[in-house]
Amino acid sequence: MSDKLIIFDTTLRDGEQSPGASMTAEEKLAIAHLLEKMRVDVIEAGFPAASQGDFEAVRQVAREITDSTVCALARAVEGDLDLAARSVQPAISGRIHTFIATSPIHMREKLRMSPEKVLERAVWAVKKARNHTDDVEFSPEDAGRSEFDFLCKIIEATIDAGARTINIPDTVGYNMPSQFGNLIEDLMNNVPNSDKAVFSVHCHNDLGVAVANSLAAVLIGARQVECTVNGLGERAGNASLEEIVMAVRTRKDFFDCDTNIDTTQIVPASRLVSSVTGFPVQPNKAIVGANAFAHESGIHQDGVIKNRETYEIMRPQDVGWATSKMVLGKHSGRHAFQQRIKELGFKFESDDELLTAFERFKSLADRKHEIFDDDLIGLVVEAGMQHGSEAIELKSLKVCSDTDCSPVAEVTLSMNGKNIGAQAQGNGPVDACFKAVSSLIEFDPSLELYSVNSITSGTDAQGEVSVRLKENGHVVNGHGADTDIVIASVKAYIDAVNRLNSSQRTNPQTGSMI
Ligand code: KIV
Ligand code: ZN
Repeated sequence: MSDKLIIFDTTLRDGEQSPGASMTAEEKLAIAHLLEKMRVDVIEAGFPAASQGDFEAVRQVAREITDSTVCALARAVEGDLDLAARSVQPAISGRIHTFIATSPIHMREKLRMSPEKVLERAVWAVKKARNHTDDVEFSPEDAGRSEFDFLCKIIEATIDAGARTINIPDTVGYNMPSQFGNLIEDLMNNVPNSDKAVFSVHCHNDLGVAVANSLAAVLIGARQVECTVNGLGERAGNASLEEIVMAVRTRKDFFDCDTNIDTTQIVPASRLVSSVTGFPVQPNKAIVGANAFAHESGIHQDGVIKNRETYEIMRPQDVGWATSKMVLGKHSGRHAFQQRIKELGFKFESDDELLTAFERFKSLADRKHEIFDDDLIGLVVEAGMQHGSEAIELKSLKVCSDTDCSPVAEVTLSMNGKNIGAQAQGNGPVDACFKAVSSLIEFDPSLELYSVNSITSGTDAQGEVSVRLKENGHVVNGHGADTDIVIASVKAYIDAVNRLNSSQRTNPQTGSMI
């Protein structure tokens, strides 16, 4: 059995299916570059049938990423497979991942297809995908609730049809670790041609055991794990990349396998994904939470001072802590700025874009003494590089807070090239600002989430605000960063409004619009 565990990252596909986590093409590219730098083996860049934007984003990732395989997801239908094939066609190494549901409830209620028809369609889809690339992956969706004999049959048939990777998803996070490990073991032992494919697992975290289930499968021989940065993903998310990678690396003695991952890129990737999606990382999250390596009690501190290994099983620097260096300041030039942004995985499409971002950087440097990598990420993410020319922009904001009466906000926006302004009163300064902005736009989204995080430490730190808006069943997250949290809040609100204006996607599991 191979001692190499393949890391298949699906942050840009399943991760993006988290309500409110939709990403622009530029954001996907920046994350893809960082995943490549981290030496992720396979990057699932998206579901091209979801929208024209997703198709373009996957194609762009396929053009630019050279060291990782770029994968596109497709249902077992002609249109999806054609789009997936076209989207990964420019890749040096491209993969098509096709899937169809195999559990009784999904076949009966969702697909309305008999098991025989599902099997026939799966074989057809794998053969069709093989016309475009040798690297084809097949997933029997909801395998965790499928009948064992049928699962064996469809896996054997799809391997015969040319699937090189068989991915077993616990789509609804129903399985328990020993049960899931046994399922993988039984499949590998009972499918006659199982040695012709790599067995992969894809676990969801509905009962909080996605990582445990994935590791149970690795222990008995699965050699690909599908996972996401920060455990992002549908509902409660997917198995988290950083936990899988560090479990296998730290306990190599136990797992008998390892990954290719450069673990020092883990924390930067976590921060980038958190900034882009606006989903903060909980402080006690393993590996990437702010407290993951913090020692509070005196006894622990004393132990760590005497010998780090008394309470630390990993070294913080090995997962990329302390890589957010003070890199630039107000005297830094455009070249240094551009170079650092490039190293962080972003790029400017034109000189104008570079100039605008550089002006924002200078203005931030005037207000904030030291600029860290995280500030730069916040700045680029909130720079609105992602929106079209019709995007709404904040031109000016004046807020008056008073201990004796309600705050008043005066906002001027640029919309379709024209400046328009409004004034509103609210329960607080942020409420007043949001009311003023929403009086200027054509719809009335509901505010589902509002959160403020400090990007770095100190009173001059930038506040990073996430705002989740819902309109007509569409949920989007917007983010904004500024040393003034009221301004950051308005930027985040406007960002979400811009995203609402441009988002129309299809959910791969249901085929419905998300
Ligand atoms: O959870 C799931 O079953 C999926 C498949 C598309 C692999 O995401
Ligand atoms: Zn999934």
